[in-house]
Amino acid sequence: MAILKIARMGHPVLLRECDPVPDPGAPEIRRLVADMMETMEDAPGVGLAAPQVFQPLRLFVFRVPGDRSANDPGDTPIGNSVLINPELELIGDERVLGWEGCLSIPGMRAAVPRATRIRYKGVDCDGNIVTREVSGFHARVVQHEYDHLDGVLYTMRLTDFSLFGFNEELTRAAEGKL
Ligand code: NI
Repeated sequence: MAILKIARMGHPVLLRECDPVPDPGAPEIRRLVADMMETMEDAPGVGLAAPQVFQPLRLFVFRVPGDRSANDPGDTPIGNSVLINPELELIGDERVLGWEGCLSIPGMRAAVPRATRIRYKGVDCDGNIVTREVSGFHARVVQHEYDHLDGVLYTMRLTDFSLFGFNEELTRAAEGKL
């Protein structure tokens, strides 16, 4: 296993539409997924898409930590997971603002509008079909990572740029220190 270099905003690999994975069980894909999980944990982050490690392929890894999930039926904690060749469907018109960061935009975060409920489907490295209907933080992470596969960064989703800034300043402001 290996910690992979992460592409930062401005690199063209983050702006292209990624290609489907022809064989999700191929040894090089298993190795990539294992390395991406290790890289995500090391960063640390809650999601990492293949283009962020310079592989323009339709796959991402993610997790929902216990302290981020709402613990309602659609948003339970989930350990390291992979979705290969995912499909995403937004349910309903409800959108909610929530804070997001991205390992390709280090040190910053923004409040990004996302669908509250989604349905998704993909496969893992063993060819098992993964299909879920989720909400809350789980839905947010999957929408963020899925966007990477189409060359979309969270900055392109922003509707209020006053809710975009450096983590240190936003945290100080939230604590009433600014
Ligand atoms: Ni990201």
